[in-house]
Parts: sequence; structure tokens; C-alpha cells
Amino acid sequence: MPDVAMPDTPQSCDVVVLLSGTGGNLQAMIDSFQDSSSPARIRAVISNRADAYGLERARNAGIETRALDHTAYEGREAFDAALIELIDTFAPKLVVLAGFMRILTPGFVRHYHGRLLNIHPSLLPAYKGLHTHQRVLEAGDATHGCSVHFVTEELDGGPLVVQAVISVELHDTPATLAQRVHAQEHLIYPLAIRWFAEGRLALSEHGASLNGQPLGPGGHLIQAT
Ligand code: GRF
Repeated sequence: MPDVAMPDTPQSCDVVVLLSGTGGNLQAMIDSFQDSSSPARIRAVISNRADAYGLERARNAGIETRALDHTAYEGREAFDAALIELIDTFAPKLVVLAGFMRILTPGFVRHYHGRLLNIHPSLLPAYKGLHTHQRVLEAGDATHGCSVHFVTEELDGGPLVVQAVISVELHDTPATLAQRVHAQEHLIYPLAIRWFAEGRLALSEHGASLNGQPLGPGGHLIQAT
């Protein structure tokens, strides 16, 4: 053995991704984590819809996939219990919601407390729920964006990690806003996951922190150019 100190190799952080749809955010993660300097590793992708295109993206990248049909379960509690059992077979350090169109039970959210992230297409706490682009236009807002947050029992309400802000232009439609917001999602979600995987992002009883410093109510703010 050579008498030299071995460089620190960051421990890998296994991530399970939950999705129901096309998986644009999943693709951004796959592309971003290809860089071997990232400790984040997508261990599995799980969908409640067997036909979700996101599962195909995962298979194309050689990632394990599972489909768990929520309609086969009597109620949310039973589905979420089965989902927890399935997720935990992969022993992830982090679970990320990437367009997972299910309301999660308090028991599920508590089980993954501090290691469950979500992305939402608005500048939370504004515009929780659906149709955010339309609602921003109707309100005449000058800015819009997306938010990554830790998931708590309050829908779209957990501590914010990072937000990207875009400006709303006169000619914008819900479709053009969606396109620009998605482009920002694809930057900030891999970023937040990487922070978590590197041990820099954490949730404590005082809220979310980055590099040991409290993140504050809005999280880390990125102004899109
Ligand atoms: C994104 O807009 C995300 O903010 C929301 O669901 C959508 C998922 O899109 N939570 P995709 O399937 O990742 O393309």
C-alpha cells in the first residue's frame, strides 16, 4: 500500500424518484447526475401509472422502475403503506416527488420527514395547487417561477429550499410561462438534490439550512436571466 492519504470520496446518496407523468424533471436529474462528481444516484423510479413516460426515460437510462397502481388499493392509507414498503426496499437516503400526482397521507410524509423533496411551479407560498401559470396571468403578476421545498403535512407548504424567479412578459400565455418555468425547474431540482446528497442541505426543527446556515423563509433565490 502506498503511504499516502486517500482522497475523500463522497458517499453516494441513493435517491428514489416518484412521478406520474412525462418526467422532464427526472430527465434533468439523469443528465445532471451523469457527472461522476455528484454523489446523488437515482436508485429507482416509481410511478402510480404504468404508462407514465417518465418510466421509459428511467429504463432508457438503465434505472430500475416499478409501477404501483393506486386504483388497486382501498384508500390512501393502504396505497401509501404499500408505497412506503416498496420505496424502502431501495433504502434511499432521499425521496423526490417529480410530478407525482397523488396527495400523500400524513403517515407517509412523517415517515420521510427531512428526506422528502417536492418541486412546484410557482413562487410558493403563492399559488399552491394546480393551474399556476394561468392564475399568475389572471392576477397580472410581474414575476413567476418555481420552488423546491421539503415536504410536510401542509400541501405545497413545507420549508423552502430554492426558488427561481422569471419575469412575466406582456405576450406570455400559460404555455410560454410553463416552458420557461420548466427550464428553471430543470436547473434548481438537480441543484437542490445535489446539495442534499453532499450533506449541505438539511431540515431541522429550525427549518431548512444550507451549509449550516438557516435558509430563511424564501429559501435560496435565483434570478433567471
Ligand atoms: C412540474 O411542473 C412540477 O413543477 C410539478 O409537476 C410537473 C412535472 O413535470 N410538480 P415533469 O413530469 O417533470 O415534466
